[in-house]
Amino acid sequence: MSDFTSGFWPLYISVITALSIIGTWVFIRSQTTRKLQPGEKPELIGHTWDGDLQDFDNPLPRWWLGLFYGTLIFAAVYLVLWPGMGNYAGLLGWTSLQEYEDEVKAAEAKFQPVYAGFMKQDVATVAANPEAHAIGRNLYLTYCSQCHGSDAAGAKGFPNLTDHDWLYGGDADTIRATITDGRAGMMPAMGEALGPEGTKEVANYVLSLSGRKHDARLASAGQQKFADNCAACHMPDGSGMAAMGAPKLTDKVWLYGGSEASIIESIAKGRNGVMPASSQTLGTTSNREAKLHLLTAYIYGLSQQK
Ligand code: HEC
Ligand code: HEC
Repeated sequence: MSDFTSGFWPLYISVITALSIIGTWVFIRSQTTRKLQPGEKPELIGHTWDGDLQDFDNPLPRWWLGLFYGTLIFAAVYLVLWPGMGNYAGLLGWTSLQEYEDEVKAAEAKFQPVYAGFMKQDVATVAANPEAHAIGRNLYLTYCSQCHGSDAAGAKGFPNLTDHDWLYGGDADTIRATITDGRAGMMPAMGEALGPEGTKEVANYVLSLSGRKHDARLASAGQQKFADNCAACHMPDGSGMAAMGAPKLTDKVWLYGGSEASIIESIAKGRNGVMPASSQTLGTTSNREAKLHLLTAYIYGLSQQK
């Protein structure tokens, strides 16, 4: 397959490459053909540096010329064997894609038996296995750490995976479902429906649920509004609903921040955290099922440690 979209560029590159090699050869020959005749003294070139450093017109040393011609020959041989001259594929037929595929095949063959062993075990057993934990950690760092952090402790909008607090659930099947299909938290924007004052009231009620500092008058005004607008997803007591991924609002764990300002922002503008499905995170990598299994066990194991 050609990487070029137009037939002009391969030609352009080939001509420039060939001309520079030939041109360099011709130039260096033209500078080195004249030998000193017996008895002839090398000419002194006009400049003198540092008081007494002078420049003679001696022939270039042979070893140096040898190196120079060597690089030119190397370039020519390289360009015959490997791709480099525009579209020409090279006598060896090497491609970076083929090299990559060969490496993947070798890795697959190496890991296949290891993976097959773990596939026979349930998630809890795999989670307790140190070798599986090490592989799971590598997979996690490759496919998940950019969002959940290298320590899996999460960040604003990206849940902590090492605690016992789950949006969707921390049992093996739910974790596997989360990784396989992804998740999309749908917290609707309610700023307009509630108005600025109403939003502040509900926010203070939410603050009161976890015993945070709040304005008691605003909170009691917000209580009914919470029951009317929020309880359907966050439950009447604010304990959250795993099926919706609606967070528990009664604890100290906040996905988007527990300050009054952050809570008001969550309510007014809504929140839509997206966990991509494994088709995006894992792509079509080899041993996909096994990776899913090991990742599930790794995440499951993280929250079991504490
Ligand atoms: C592009 C960013 C991104 C990547 C990559 C990503 N996640 Fe997530 N993940 C999220 C977000 C955002 C959420 C929260 C979704 C929500 O708010 O509803 C989440 C949620 C989760 C949850 C649910 C947590 C809970 O409390 O129920 C698990 C488990 C999880 N991710 C595991 C993984 C694993 C394992 C990988 C790697 C295969 C991964 N994630 C890769 C962004 C990401
Ligand atoms: C349709 C269901 C639904 C309704 C109704 C709803 N929420 Fe939510 N809420 C969610 C979901 C789902 C999330 C998590 C969003 C995410 O994962 O990105 C969330 C997130 C939040 C958060 C952020 C929590 C954190 O840990 O940072 C707050 C605060 C919140 N909701 C408060 C409210 C309040 C107050 C109301 C009523 C005015 C309300 N929600 C109505 C589903 C809902």
